Amino acid sequence: MTRVPIAGVGMTKFGKNGERTARELFAEAAGKAFEDSGLSPDDVDEVYYGNFMGEIAEQQGHSGPLAADAAGVTAPATRIESACASSGAAVRHGVNRVRNGDVDVVLVGGAERMTNLSTADGTAGLAAAADALWEIKAGVTFPGAYSLMANRYFHEHGGSREDLAEVAVKNHDHAVENELAQFQMEIDVDKVLDAPTVCSPFGLFDCSPMSDGGSAALLVSEDFADDHDLGEVAITGTGQDGDRLALHDRVSMTRTPAAERAAEMAYDDAGIGPDDIDVAEVHDCFTIAEVLAIEALGFYEQGEGITAATNGETAIDGDLPVNLSGGLKAKGHPVGATGGAQISELTKILRGDHVNSDAVSDAEIGLTHNAGGTVASCVVNVLEVMN
Ligand code: COA
Repeated sequence: MTRVPIAGVGMTKFGKNGERTARELFAEAAGKAFEDSGLSPDDVDEVYYGNFMGEIAEQQGHSGPLAADAAGVTAPATRIESACASSGAAVRHGVNRVRNGDVDVVLVGGAERMTNLSTADGTAGLAAAADALWEIKAGVTFPGAYSLMANRYFHEHGGSREDLAEVAVKNHDHAVENELAQFQMEIDVDKVLDAPTVCSPFGLFDCSPMSDGGSAALLVSEDFADDHDLGEVAITGTGQDGDRLALHDRVSMTRTPAAERAAEMAYDDAGIGPDDIDVAEVHDCFTIAEVLAIEALGFYEQGEGITAATNGETAIDGDLPVNLSGGLKAKGHPVGATGGAQISELTKILRGDHVNSDAVSDAEIGLTHNAGGTVASCVVNVLEVMN
């Protein structure tokens, strides 16, 4: 295990910012990371930038160098695309580059502009993360695909719409004081159940929203961190795995083996196990996704994660707080920025300078879980307070 200190983090407020380009959103996030760390763009050796649908939303490809330039950096810059796991993968790539000993300072993160598109066009754009030949042609959208997974979960393991609603209520609760979150409003179970149906069993509040936003983190080598007195928190474990893209090709619709394997890899890398995690940011693009995530990460047995929110176990005052940032549900989900935003929020939570830090003041080890599509790609990172 080689620790990769996080020298600085930043993210924009997530929400409807459709008039701002993805490059502007990334530049703002990177500017905050520079300010947070005291480093300057001249210190950066390489950039890894997550973005999923730039071609669709902005007619913009080749966005690695573009994003780096917007952040004031002249250095090798590469866009990483892995659907909603794009910036989680960018972070992992940066970690590996630092660990290889090739670079001392890497700027990672991502951005997405979505709300300049109509919901219909955005939904069609996001569907490009599914199998175009078989799923999209059959009419699958992401709310549709995850609703299939939710219905199958109910069939195999039980659980109810109310249990899913509790996930949304919890994550909205966590976001109330988070000024960077898209929705800073409390909701209750009745509001979730009474909301318009998006795709049964999901109503409006079972879904993450369309969002614009950027995220960034500066990862540095241990020597660089020692020399510059940086990095209260470090990435100590990382894992990534994949699965067959299309849902119908999977052995199970209620398990996410890519996440299971990515978690195992990250735990082994950090020399810990699921019981050591004090706080987690997981990919709750739909309420059922949080349930599948906490099972895949080993926090719950299969079929038992469904009541975690109902029982208060994953709430801010529960045994294992999940999505203290508000998660994708309430913080928002600008897809290419999400994995980097998880790192930004968790770093602040562990450092003690997040609005929800006080609730977990003893937390020393946290985890991020960032998934692409119906978890055909997944990146898990372990973060620890450096002692
Ligand atoms: N949760 C809570 N409120 C939401 C919301 C959500 N997910 N999405 C939109 N809203 C709110 C808006 O803020 C707006 O409120 P206002 O009237 O007070 O301003 C209202 O609902 C209508 O917003 P609008 O954008 O017109 O909603 P919509 O019906 O066009 O879209 C969804 C709603 C759920 C269909 C859309 O957000 C969606 O497709 N989400 C899923 C995104 C996705 O698939 N991401 C990838 C995951 S893998």
